[in-house]
Formats: sequence, structure tokens, C-alpha cells
Amino acid sequence: MGELLQALRQLIELDRQAGIQFLIRPALPAAPAAAAAPPSPAAAPAPPPEPVGSERAARPALPPRSGLAAADLAAIAAAVAACRACRLCEQRTHPVPGEGSPAAELVFVGEGPGADEDASGRPFVGAAGQLLDRMIQAMGLRRDEVYICNAVKCRPPGNRAPLDDELAACRPFLEAQLAIIRPRVICLLGATPLKSLLGLQGVGKARGQRWDWQGIPVIATYHPAYLLRNPAAKKPAWEDLKAVLALLGRSPPPRAG
Ligand code: URA
Repeated sequence: MGELLQALRQLIELDRQAGIQFLIRPALPAAPAAAAAPPSPAAAPAPPPEPVGSERAARPALPPRSGLAAADLAAIAAAVAACRACRLCEQRTHPVPGEGSPAAELVFVGEGPGADEDASGRPFVGAAGQLLDRMIQAMGLRRDEVYICNAVKCRPPGNRAPLDDELAACRPFLEAQLAIIRPRVICLLGATPLKSLLGLQGVGKARGQRWDWQGIPVIATYHPAYLLRNPAAKKPAWEDLKAVLALLGRSPPPRAG
């Protein structure tokens, strides 16, 4: 696993070198988010056409950034499948590395796979996942344009919370995923990813503020499973999701009816 992660780091470094500045999305500066949003690619002027037969035109085109990221994310999924760094691999049916767009501007990080996720190998497909889908939809986004993953990639037995050493063993995978995607915002769902990524305790205290991971703004909110048990918390959770949208320079869509 050490070798796999080492290879992964080299892969990320190669991407950085190949992609140089323009392929890597710039991190948001700390200034007000809406004003700080980088220009959309659609708004950027088209590059002048290459002169036919010139030295530059003869060079092979760089693969698009999302293609490189997809390959790196696939390498992480393979490393997760081979991982034996903690006890969670012993009882899992399938590893659940994560899924979504390699070019996602928003990454959601949950706790760890439950029974449905363990059975399917996909994150957030059970009851909590259905609520997360509705939350994403309410934000005016599609599930396939964000990225969804967990603090641990294998199911803790009996749905217990992951232990600290399990979080530590899996953190390099999470951090590598975030480093590859470099979303504009990270949204942490519940106490477990908050502890793993930021070393903070308690969503109640951490929510309502903007945190930072490696220059990327981080918003913490309640886990969808908690919202299913405590519907009153949906209102503050919606405030958190609106803060995420503001950081993306977006507004929630008008509500039907
Ligand atoms: N809860 C999580 O935290 N993650 C999942 O993938 C599913 C349920």
C-alpha cells in the first residue's frame, strides 16, 4: 500500500507538471466568494488557431484535465481495493472509493459505507443517500456533476463509527482524491469527516463557519442520516448548503410551487 500511494503521489506530481498552471483550477482566495469565482471556461476567449505545420501544432495535445483526474481517481480506487492497512478490509464486501465527476467543483465527504454501499460498491445509495440526492437537487446540481466519497472506504461492522486508527489509515486516500479533484468547495457531512480532515470535534460548533483545507473552502453540515432522524436540523443544513452555493458563485434555484 505504501508503494501504491507513492506511485499515486508521483502520478499527481506528473499531472501537475503536464497540466502546468492552466489545467489546475486555481484555489479561491479568501475574499468574498461570489466576486472571487474564477472566470468560467465558456467566458474565456478562444485561443488563436495554431498555424498548420508549426512546431507547436505538431506536438501531441495534452489530454483534458478531467481525463488525467479520472485516471488518477481510478488508480486510487485500485489502491483502495488492494489496501490492507486496517481491519475494515476484513469484513467488507466491496470497497467504496467514491464516485462522481473528476472535474467536480463540489465534493461531499461522508463518514463511511453502510450496508447498501458495501453491497453495491457505491457511496450514498441507501436511505441517507436518497436524502443526499434530494439535497443536491435542491441546490440546483446533479449528482453526476459533484463528487461523493467517504472518510473511510470500507464499511465499519454494524455501522459503527470508524475508529481513529481507521480514519488515519484511510486519510491518505481521501486527501489524494481531494488533491486530484481540487474542487472549489468541500462539504463535510457529519462529525466523522470533520474529525478526519480538519481534526475538529462537533458539527454543531463547526457549522456556520468557513474552514479551509489546503486553500480550498470547507463547509461542515449535518450528515443526511442525522437529518432523517432529526428533521428540525434540515433548516440549518439548508443554510449550510446555501453557503456552499455562495462559495460556488451560485444561487439556489427557485422552488417549484
Ligand atoms: N453514510 C455515509 O456516511 N456514507 C455513505 O456512503 C452512506 C451512508
